[in-house]
Amino acid sequence: MRTVRLFSAALGSLLLGALLWTGGALGQAQRFAPLGPLPPVPVPPDNPMSAAKIELGQLLFWDTRLSGDASTSCASCHDPKQGWGDGGKLSRGYPGTEHWRNSQTVLNAAYYSKLFWAGEVTSLESQADAAAAGNVAGNGDPIMMEERLRQIPEYVRRFKEVFGVDRPTISMAWMAIATFERTLVSKAEDVPFDRYAKRDQSALSPEAKRGIALFQGKAGCVQCHNGPLLSDESYHNLGVPRNPEFESNPLRQITLRYQHVTRGVPEKIYRSADRDLGLYYITKQEIDKGKFRTPSLRELKYTAPYMHNGTFETLEEVIDFYNRGAGDDPNKSSLVKPLGLSDRERKELLAFLLSLSSDHPLIVEPPDLPGYVALK
Ligand code: HEC
Ligand code: HEC
Repeated sequence: MRTVRLFSAALGSLLLGALLWTGGALGQAQRFAPLGPLPPVPVPPDNPMSAAKIELGQLLFWDTRLSGDASTSCASCHDPKQGWGDGGKLSRGYPGTEHWRNSQTVLNAAYYSKLFWAGEVTSLESQADAAAAGNVAGNGDPIMMEERLRQIPEYVRRFKEVFGVDRPTISMAWMAIATFERTLVSKAEDVPFDRYAKRDQSALSPEAKRGIALFQGKAGCVQCHNGPLLSDESYHNLGVPRNPEFESNPLRQITLRYQHVTRGVPEKIYRSADRDLGLYYITKQEIDKGKFRTPSLRELKYTAPYMHNGTFETLEEVIDFYNRGAGDDPNKSSLVKPLGLSDRERKELLAFLLSLSSDHPLIVEPPDLPGYVALK
C-alpha cells in the first residue's frame, strides 16, 4: 500500500490534511475527510437548545420512571463513571433479559447521523424513544410513562416552561433527553489531539505525532475512521471474535433470538441463531451479515471494553487484532489486512488513540428527582 499526503491549505497542516490513498481495493485514489476538532454540535431546527430544556433532559435521563417497572433509567446503562456506557462487555438488559451487545457510550453520540451498532435510528429523539420503549432496554409503555410524568408537579411545571404545554407528552420527554445528550460532547480545549490540531505543537508527544502518520498511512485506520468524529458512519465486517460470555449465557441467547424474530429474520436462520447479524437485521442481505457502523475513536480512554460485543478489554488488544489483519469471516472487509507494525509502531498508534480522549472524564452527578403527588 502506498500513501501520498496532500497539503491542506485550509488547515495548513501536513499531518491533519486530507489524504490520498492509492493501491486500495480498486487501485484508485481516494480522499478521506480530514481529522480535526469537532464542529459545533448539530441541533435540529425543530428542537432548539435551551438551558431549561437541558436541565429537564438531565432529570429524565436519570429517571427510572421512564421504563416499564420503574427500575431502569438511561443512566443505568449509560453511567458517567463508566464512560457513559455500562462498563460490561455486554450490556445489562431490562430486568428478565440480558442484552447481547455492548452498551455504547452516549458521549459525542450527537454527531452521528446513524445511531446504534447497526445504525438503524437516525436521530437522538427517536433513539430515546426506542431505548425507553424497547423491550430489552426500558420496556416502557408510552401511555403509562406519560401518565407518570403528568403526576409529578415539578415535571408539569418544567414541561410548561420549556414547551409551553399544560401536560407533558412523552415525545417532549425524548426531545429534552436528546437536548441533554447534545451537551455530552468532547471540548477541543480538553483533548490533546484537538489542541494540537489548533496549532499547539506541545500538546502531543513525538510518539503520538508518529502515531497520526501511521493511522493515516501504514496502518490504514483512516480508511474507515475519518473526519472529526473518526467514523465514516459506514458499515464494515471485521470478523471480531465471538464473546464467550454470550456463548455460555442462556438469557443473552434468548434476547438475541428475540431480536432475530422481531427483526423478521427468516425461520431457517433464526432457528440456528448463534450470533449478532448487525446490518443484516435491516437489509436482510447476505453480504451485510456481521457488518457494524464504524464507531468514533474519541474518548476511548473511558469507554472500554471495545467492539459491538465488548470482546476486547484494552486498546492494545484492539491494535494487535488489526495488526494480525483483523478476524476471520466470509464477509470480512477487504480494507483490513495484516499490517506488519513493529512493537514501537503499535505503541505510537496507541499514543495517538489516547490523545483523542479528554484529559478528564466528563462526569455529571445524578440529579435529585422530583416526586409524585396524589391528585385531589
Ligand atoms: C438496558 C440497558 C440500556 C438502557 C436502559 C438504555 N440503553 Fe442506550 N444503549 C444500550 C445498548 C446495549 C446500546 C447499543 C444497542 C444496539 O446497538 O442495538 C445502546 C445505544 C445507545 C445510543 C447509541 C449510541 C451510538 O453510538 O450510536 C444512544 C444515544 C443511547 N443508547 C441512549 C440511551 C437513552 C437516551 C436511554 C434512555 C431513554 C438509553 N440509551 C437507555 C443500552 C441501554
Ligand atoms: C474497514 C474499516 C475499518 C478499518 C480499516 C479500521 N477500523 Fe476500527 N472499527 C471499524 C468498525 C466497523 C468497528 C466496529 C466493529 C465491530 O464491533 O464489529 C471498529 C472498531 C474499532 C475500535 C473499537 C471502538 C469502540 O468504541 O468499541 C477501535 C479502538 C478501532 N476500531 C481502532 C482502529 C484502528 C487503530 C485501526 C487501524 C489499525 C482501525 N480501527 C481500522 C472499522 C474499521
